[in-house]
Parts: sequence; C-alpha cells; structure tokens
Amino acid sequence: MDLGLAGRTALVLGGSQGLGLGVARALLEEGAEVAIASRSLEGLSAARAGLAEALRPRCRLVVADLGAPGAGETIAAAARQEVGEIDILVNNSGGPPTGLPSGVSPAEMQAQFGRMVEPLIALTLALLPGMRARRFGRILTIASSGVVQPIPHLPISNSLRSALVGFMKTLAGEVAKDGVTVNVLAPGRIATDRTRTLDAAAAVRSGRSEAEVAKESAAGIPAGRYGTVEEFGAVAAFLAGRGASYVTGSVIRVDGGAIRSI
Ligand SMILES: NC(=O)c1ccc[n+]([C@@H]2O[C@H](COP(=O)([O-])OP(=O)(O)OC[C@H]3O[C@@H](n4cnc5c(N)ncnc54)[C@H](OP(=O)(O)O)[C@@H]3O)[C@@H](O)[C@H]2O)c1
Repeated sequence: MDLGLAGRTALVLGGSQGLGLGVARALLEEGAEVAIASRSLEGLSAARAGLAEALRPRCRLVVADLGAPGAGETIAAAARQEVGEIDILVNNSGGPPTGLPSGVSPAEMQAQFGRMVEPLIALTLALLPGMRARRFGRILTIASSGVVQPIPHLPISNSLRSALVGFMKTLAGEVAKDGVTVNVLAPGRIATDRTRTLDAAAAVRSGRSEAEVAKESAAGIPAGRYGTVEEFGAVAAFLAGRGASYVTGSVIRVDGGAIRSI
C-alpha cells in the first residue's frame, strides 16, 4: 500500500530514540523528509547514523529543549528551515517522574506542563495555518494508554496527557474540513528506554528484579509481550498517510490489547 508520503515533510519530537525514532524511521521509509528533534545533538546524530544509508539524507536534525521559553515557536522555525513547511507533526516529549498521586508536587506538575503540554500546543498552533492553507495536515500526538485507563504511579503523565487529548480532540473538530486530521496515539508498553526505566522503578518499589517485573507486565498484556517501536511506527505512518484522511479526533491504542475496555 502506498501511503502517499513521498515528498511530504514531517517534524517528529523526541525523535532521537524510542517511539519518536520508530515513527521517524517509518516516515522516512515511506519517502518523507523528516526533521527529528530532541535536546541532544549527539543523540540525534547517533539516531541518524543508525538509519539505513539511503534514508539519512532525508533525515534532518533540530536541537531544542521543549522546556525552554518559546520552544514551540523556536522548533517550528528550525524545522521549517530544515525541511520546509511541515505537513506532518508528531508531538512527543520525555516522560514525567513516577510517584503516588498523594505525593505530587504542584510545582513539578507545573514544570512538566511547561515541557509536555504548552510547547506541544504552541508548536501545533504555529504549524497549523500552513497546513490549513495547503489543505493537508496530519497532527499526531503521542500520549499513553493512561489517558484511557490511568496508570498507578504515573499521576502526572495521566493528568497532563489527558489535557493534550482534550485539546487535540477539540482542535480536530475545528480543522477537519480543511484537510487536517488530528489524532492521538496511546501506546501501552512498547519496549524503549522509558519502559525500561519504569520497570526499574517498579522493581525498586516491589523488591523484585527488573526482569521479573517486565515478565509479569508482559504476561498481563493479551499479546503476551511488549510492542516494538517498528509496530508503533507503522501505525503512525498509516495515520500520517493519505489513506487515513477520514480518521480524525481519535485516540488510537497501540497496546497489544492491554486496555480491556471497549
Ligand atoms: N514506550 C512506551 O511504551 C510508552 C507508553 C506510554 C507513554 N509513553 C510516553 O511516550 C513518550 C515517548 O516514549 P519513549 O518510550 O520513546 O521515551 P524515551 O525513550 O524516553 O524518549 C524520549 C524522547 O524525548 C526526548 N526528550 C526528552 N525530554 C525532552 C525535552 N525536554 N525537550 C526535547 N526533547 C526531549 C528525548 O531526547 P533527549 O533526551 O535527547 O532530549 C527522547 O528523544 C514519553 O513521554 C513516554 O513517557 C511511552
């Protein structure tokens, strides 16, 4: 199936590793020009070096900290400079700290809002007018299965990602007639550094080994395993493609069946 992504331009946040890199690779494999963004030039350069040689020239790097003032606008400008007007925006960020809801620090919540929510909305708004004018746009936001079924020990993630879902759903209704789709991806457990860090934290909490925690966690997923970044990237690429033009305002689970509700 040709997804119609050849020649399209994309910006993928958190593109140096994990889910973001999985999505970037899938878009590059479909022929898109992709700017990947993160804080570390070293990480981004290593990510590009790990791509198949034929994909590297179409992969551009944007170094930026989502927590810096004005990050949304800065990243939008830098990405335009690298690949031109952006057709496909993949919103993503680092994950927040774990802990009990009763132990959340409001100051930490506010700081995380400044890294996980505000810059993604600012970036979306900066790129939206161009998408509407060209009558094509794909806005994908990587959230979490926690927006459907809150995850214990991830209160900040559950809260702030739900804020993004609320914004994106509202935006989807406004721009659907302009050829711009707005969807949220809800990963369950996809094997990345982040899931390894979460398993390590759970191991410390429960006095077990990380391997035991991961085994139990995988056993609770109907698929019986964690997902791969390739599986995640394939779903994102489909949503970014022309075949997904009538899918908007949705939260799409990529979780091996982990969430049991309909
Ligand atoms: N993996 C899963 O199964 C899963 C499930 C649910 C939700 N999620 C969430 O989805 C997101 C991506 O997951 P992942 O597993 O790919 O995480 P990851 O491996 O930790 O990757 C995070 C990415 O975000 C970048 N980043 C972190 N802080 C940043 C900042 N302040 N400014 C700019 N870039 C920043 C990192 O690069 P630098 O460090 O170089 O900046 C990296 O590229 C995370 O928020 C995670 O919590 C993941």
